[in-house]
Amino acid sequence: MLVMQLLRGAVKHAGSSPQFSVERLISAARGFSSSSQHLSDFEGTHPPPCTDTEHPKILITGGLGQLGVGLAKLLRRRFGKNNVILSDIRKPPNHVYHNGPFIFSDILDSKNLREIVVNNNISWLIHYSAVLSAVGENNIALAKEVNITGLHNILDIATDHGLRVFVPSTIGAFGPSSPRDPTPELCVQRPRTIYGVSKVHAELMGEYYHHRYGLDFRCLRYPGIISANSNPGGGTTDYAVQIFHTAVKTGCFECNLRSDTLLPMMYIDDCLRATLEFMEAPADSLLSRTYNISAMSFTPHDLVQEMQKVLPELKVTYNVDPLLQAIADGWPMVLEDIAARRDWGWKHEFDLSELVQTMLTHITTSNQRAQAN
Ligand SMILES: NC(=O)c1ccc[n+]([C@@H]2O[C@H](COP(=O)([O-])OP(=O)(O)OC[C@H]3O[C@@H](n4cnc5c(N)ncnc54)[C@H](O)[C@@H]3O)[C@@H](O)[C@H]2O)c1
Repeated sequence: MLVMQLLRGAVKHAGSSPQFSVERLISAARGFSSSSQHLSDFEGTHPPPCTDTEHPKILITGGLGQLGVGLAKLLRRRFGKNNVILSDIRKPPNHVYHNGPFIFSDILDSKNLREIVVNNNISWLIHYSAVLSAVGENNIALAKEVNITGLHNILDIATDHGLRVFVPSTIGAFGPSSPRDPTPELCVQRPRTIYGVSKVHAELMGEYYHHRYGLDFRCLRYPGIISANSNPGGGTTDYAVQIFHTAVKTGCFECNLRSDTLLPMMYIDDCLRATLEFMEAPADSLLSRTYNISAMSFTPHDLVQEMQKVLPELKVTYNVDPLLQAIADGWPMVLEDIAARRDWGWKHEFDLSELVQTMLTHITTSNQRAQAN
């Protein structure tokens, strides 16, 4: 009876609100009628998720940041160039524009986002748009808009169209009261940045939609990601990317974190491979929907020592930014990722020495190429 009342109310309400999905309410009503139902019970109410035998059609939002272009390259190699659409609100550089489908998409424009999903028959959505930690603390209104309102648009559209959706979280989703060495999957999460708060919100909303509506929500907590060919977007771990470029160019670097600041980090190839493997993992192997992934932890001092094995002249000074240091001091030092290794076979390949050698080789080669042209 309660279910019928809910449905009648929903149909009435649906006429007045384009955001409102009757399909979703039917799912919710089913959830009400038997709270112990399994996810498979929801299957009839959504378009079937893409099967493992067919290639997914993938949309990446916020794809022109540090991670999106590299992920598009990896996914296109795996699923075909035209099956992966990169999107952003910025104009792509020529090499990105010519390398595969690119489309303008503002995640705050949910009608346009829905059109893109429908018109392109999207089955996987990789949601990379975000305002990162350091930028977010300087523009809280923007961080709230993009990281929270934008996420709601993504989850609603993904639910309505039966998508598999990936939303990255971060070590910034933990805070000073979380255990920091190591930081387990499940523990107190009381972050003190708007970035962290919005990512905890994303984890919880995604898991809620998963349990309530059967959304195939998948979330990895990335450590600080280090890449040679793409610039970081204003996070607290950016020093670990900038140091390579500046060191190769000038032989010196001014670090904005204290030399003993221990943080979890990962080379971009490991991060992107983890994302693909996690997206391909069979749903029944995932005992959780939000996983930590980890590769290594180091301090600026450790990194400098490793770099000096290759660049013995490298000189590093420290000029600590109090805002960034306060953020870093509340973040995990070591991220525990036992569950990811157990459930879907996560395994990192790059440790600190491989990271340093690979970064220096990439940067030196691309600088030489730039000089030659
Ligand atoms: N890079 C890291 O070290 C790291 C670590 C942990 C988690 N993450 C997460 O991974 C994701 C990708 O990170 P990244 O480093 O590539 O970020 P980035 O800051 O480099 O890029 C984010 C992109 O989002 C776009 N964007 C901003 N507002 C938008 C809007 N309204 N609509 C559409 N696009 C919009 C920006 O133009 C930018 O290209 C983010 O969700 C981030 O929180 C990154």
